[in-house]
Amino acid sequence: MTRHYLMCRPDYFAVEYAINPWMHPEAGADREVAIRQWETLKSTYEELGHRVSLIDPVEGLPDMVFAANGALVVGGRVYGARFTHRERAAEGPAYLKWFTGNGYDRVREAAFTNEGEGDFLTLDHMVLAGTGFRTDITAHKEAQEFLGRPVVTLQLVDPRFYHLDTALFPLNGRRVAYFPGAFSPGSQEVLRSLFPDAVIADEDDAAVLGLNAVSDGTHVVINAEAGNLQLELKRQGFEVIPVDLSELRKAGGGPKCCTLEIRE
Ligand code: ARG
Repeated sequence: MTRHYLMCRPDYFAVEYAINPWMHPEAGADREVAIRQWETLKSTYEELGHRVSLIDPVEGLPDMVFAANGALVVGGRVYGARFTHRERAAEGPAYLKWFTGNGYDRVREAAFTNEGEGDFLTLDHMVLAGTGFRTDITAHKEAQEFLGRPVVTLQLVDPRFYHLDTALFPLNGRRVAYFPGAFSPGSQEVLRSLFPDAVIADEDDAAVLGLNAVSDGTHVVINAEAGNLQLELKRQGFEVIPVDLSELRKAGGGPKCCTLEIRE
């Protein structure tokens, strides 16, 4: 099925502050390399037949490339982000403005802290929602009421996996892949009971942000370094498309972080 993705070119990308354990401002990052890697990700989606829309990057917002955090869009309803850290606060209104400017009129400005698709992952019959580092559990309730979809809370416990999308991704509308160690014991149990057929990733693959992947149900776009997970996905019949986003990983992001799915 054709997907519609919103992306933001990393024209102002930099690692200037540290708001997650992947970020080391003293080591910095190479913007030109990041732009090249991002361009490859964008053309990968286009070659798969997906539609990519672009939002203009804003100077002074070095993390704006991580479009997944900008909003959550389900059934044409746009639930806006409200960022945890002041460094990214201006991104919320910037993404909302893109949606209102592009004809989306069912838009909700969030009252509670949430980082969009970074912590909300949409399946056919539910939305999985992370909390513990960024998104407040009150936003899970707010999203459920606004979207009219059941929202299932999952507790994140490892600071390397600060957003749900760093630890889990939907393979299709019914199935997921995840790294159990990123979740509290109770949430691991919830995941086991909801998804007995999940693909379980190991820590090595999680530690290269292998779970920050994007699946259209057939193709999985995934960080190249996540070797075991790629093998397992192939065994399960998925077409695996490895990409190199190593420069963006220096800010704690991978393919999914760069990709906000627009579900009409
Ligand atoms: N540096 C960004 C932050 O810490 C990275 C965001 C990655 N995005 C994501 N969807 N996991 O906020």
